[in-house]
Amino acid sequence: MPSTDLDWWRDAVFYQVYIRSFADGNGDGVGDLAGIRARLPHLIDLGVDALWITPFYPSPMADHGYDVADPRDVEPTFGDLAAFDALLADAHAAGLRVTVDLVPNHTSHAHEWFEAALAAAPGSPERARYLFRDGRGSDGAEPPNNWPSVFGGPAWTRVPDGQWYLHLFAPEQPDLDFTHPEVLADLEETMRFWLDRGVDGFRIDVAHGMAKPSGLPDMLPMEDTGLLADHGPGDHRFDDDGVHEVHRRIRRVLDEYPGRMAVGEVWVSDDDRLAQYLRPDELQLAFNFKLLTAEWDAEDLRTAIEHSLATVEGTPAPACWVLSNHDRPRHVTRYGDGIVGTRRARAAALLQLALPGVAYVYNGDELGLPDVDLPDEALQDPIWERSGRTERGRDACRIPVPWSGDEPSYGFSSRRDTWLPMPEGWDRLTVAAQADDDASMLSLYRRALELRRTSSALRGDGLEWLPAPAGCLAFRRSGGLVCLVNLSADDVPLPEGELLLASTDVSDGVLPVDAAVWLRA
Ligand code: NOJ
Repeated sequence: MPSTDLDWWRDAVFYQVYIRSFADGNGDGVGDLAGIRARLPHLIDLGVDALWITPFYPSPMADHGYDVADPRDVEPTFGDLAAFDALLADAHAAGLRVTVDLVPNHTSHAHEWFEAALAAAPGSPERARYLFRDGRGSDGAEPPNNWPSVFGGPAWTRVPDGQWYLHLFAPEQPDLDFTHPEVLADLEETMRFWLDRGVDGFRIDVAHGMAKPSGLPDMLPMEDTGLLADHGPGDHRFDDDGVHEVHRRIRRVLDEYPGRMAVGEVWVSDDDRLAQYLRPDELQLAFNFKLLTAEWDAEDLRTAIEHSLATVEGTPAPACWVLSNHDRPRHVTRYGDGIVGTRRARAAALLQLALPGVAYVYNGDELGLPDVDLPDEALQDPIWERSGRTERGRDACRIPVPWSGDEPSYGFSSRRDTWLPMPEGWDRLTVAAQADDDASMLSLYRRALELRRTSSALRGDGLEWLPAPAGCLAFRRSGGLVCLVNLSADDVPLPEGELLLASTDVSDGVLPVDAAVWLRA
């Protein structure tokens, strides 16, 4: 089904702006709303349809904005409401839609509700909005259950009067109790606040987390699951059936605003469980993270694609493809870094953008940015300290975007020292260095996105697998596009068809190793 103005998102390319790292407008070394506004021309030239801006709300930044102290205002580091309105107006005038992050599962410990809860007594109404419980053991000195925090250590912290509160993430991110009517009412107020300002939708953080099983039973003991592991049955922290009622409430609000949408961050690997979030009265989209977690291997990638398509079959939703985001190693690095990682990333871009449905591009994907090894003293992710300095966390994939120039901070900021240090040697990766180079990653993305917009070959929901040489993937879209990806160890012949785009030179009629091609059959 071709998209319309009301369901524009069905085949959209979203661009994820990790706000701290996209562009710094005020020279403090941290990205901000003014920076995004000034760099809109890059996004227009790139040819994306919509933005997802990560949290820019007042926050003590224990988890870089995913610890929200007030969901209906702007953190001064990032600007103010007027700066947001100005960005939104400019984006809309340029035909770009804007979606923002909604963080319902938890607040910051600096949220007025949590401050009131700490000041109040056990059993008080102020504590009832969160998950305060008495501990186990004779003096309550043991946590109420065995749940680990995703960031390491127990998911419980004890307060001076002896009670414990639940935080699936950092202690500075107390979980809300969604059985409390004020919690949902407040979420709806937040949604309306941003929808009334004109946002086109939301990315919902931890969208599989808002409901907890009653009694908060122990989960199956497991090794530290690591950040955002696939939460299967027995992990009672996530994917409780009660979460679907929350999604129905969210959808009811969205439906009052035609043309607005929500995509959920749902780390649920089972196809049928994930599909439940996409029922007609729940989310319009759910990230499918199977591409993000697949190896550079034909079998692995094909399985990831098949499961993602099987998930949405029978739901109203299109598939929603992600190669990288601010929580996982970038795909250039996952695929081997250096020349090999970059070649594969070029091919992966053509694979992702050829698939039917929605694609999310993470800022810097279009430049082929790799992860950066940072020295211990530069690390900021709470995972580093929470894991007892054994897990380095996610800073490596969050380095600021290089725009121009020969040395840090490459036009990202007017100052050299940025919130995460930028490496030497990124002068060849800047937007300016790539813009006029036909062979650059940026040019490849621009061309691919242009074809997605203009070529009928990239239309249609259907995907048919084609016979392909061993170690290769080939499929045809119903619009006629044939995509062939060579993950084998040898060159393979190019299939018949009109050449639309290739990730490397194919002029001698073969598709080299670690490359992909688009043809019109
Ligand atoms: C998922 C976000 O993407 C991640 O960055 C954050 O740390 C957690 N949710 C907790 O909000």
